[in-house]
Amino acid sequence: MRCPRCGELLDTLVDTGKAHIRWGELRGRGVWRYRDLLPGLNHVVTMGEGSTPLIRLREYPNAYVKFEGANPTGSFKDRGMTVGASLAVSLGVRGVVVASTGNTAASAAAYSARAGLECVVVLPKGNVARGKLAQSVLHGARIVEVPGTFDNALEYVLDTVLSDGAVNDINYYPLNSINPWRLEGQKTIAFEIIEEIGVPDFVFVPVGNGGNIYAIWKGFRELLELGVIDRVPRMIGVQAEGAAPMVRYWRGLGEARIDNPRTVASAIRIGKPVNWFRAYRAVKYSNGLFLEVSDEEIIRAQGMLGREGVGVEPASAASLAGYLRALKEGIVDVNDRVVLIATGHALKDPDILVRDNVQSITISSLEELRRLLKT
Ligand code: F0G
Repeated sequence: MRCPRCGELLDTLVDTGKAHIRWGELRGRGVWRYRDLLPGLNHVVTMGEGSTPLIRLREYPNAYVKFEGANPTGSFKDRGMTVGASLAVSLGVRGVVVASTGNTAASAAAYSARAGLECVVVLPKGNVARGKLAQSVLHGARIVEVPGTFDNALEYVLDTVLSDGAVNDINYYPLNSINPWRLEGQKTIAFEIIEEIGVPDFVFVPVGNGGNIYAIWKGFRELLELGVIDRVPRMIGVQAEGAAPMVRYWRGLGEARIDNPRTVASAIRIGKPVNWFRAYRAVKYSNGLFLEVSDEEIIRAQGMLGREGVGVEPASAASLAGYLRALKEGIVDVNDRVVLIATGHALKDPDILVRDNVQSITISSLEELRRLLKT
């Protein structure tokens, strides 16, 4: 999956000159609605992923939340996993393997189960939110825990499964976001946005490994090449302060790597983003930028979304936190149309929501309830 000459990750290119897609005549729903811009497959492992709601915020009417928590396993990972698992089946492998901060694992576990494949998930011990771990258990994945962070887990997977750029004799297909086919599924986020509201001015994306922001940008680029749109939105990559290697690189402060990434947003607790160059290109060529937000800002944004009825996990709230920061710094205007990618569901990480004592009132009679409802 790497170029033997330069070592960079290989990409898939859609020949937009040859693609037969009529934008006004798409049929079906979800990721496979865009099958003409996706790899051709005989057998598709699908659970209706995609077609997620775009929810306009009451408080900021020009901001739309793309709620990826509505996918089958509760995160955007399902968009890529339908493509990845389908390919794994057609390759005839024994199973799939992923390193993960949790969501990729949950999705890989579910789609492998659906496909009848084995699944091994390699997780940073003690660094995965409970809801996600529970999903891997439920769907029967073999769980391997390694000490350290996600970066260590990914190193384990890449070093065992990939050799000389090819899948070796282990017969497990790696489905991390180095896998370009998974990103093909994720690019459909861009297609759905365009179909629903046209070209926004900005798209805010929480960045961990950097695969998703690249995938979304790639989707926009393809539509530009096809003449469906005439400009690409500015891509804003948002990272948590304690885990912001892309921000560091963007500001010219050194390589896109840090040791000991730290943030409450465990999904994006990543110090060495394997897709750093892809993410960098997406931001640079869309005239966007990377910015960082504090854990406090993330938790506040999560609460704000909660009060609008939208339940997201902390990493997902980074996009709203980033938007608020960008408003404050004058990078965006309240009149600009923005899309905030809400990558995963609130139930993924329940502990964080009930960390402090839950405020409640205990009652023991109907009378007490009646009195309470009256005040
Ligand atoms: N938001 C959530 C909820 C995620 O789970 C992830 C990544 C991201 C954002 C960042 O996306 O890596 O493409 O930049 N989670 C991966 C995982 C690392 O293993 O589930 P990215």
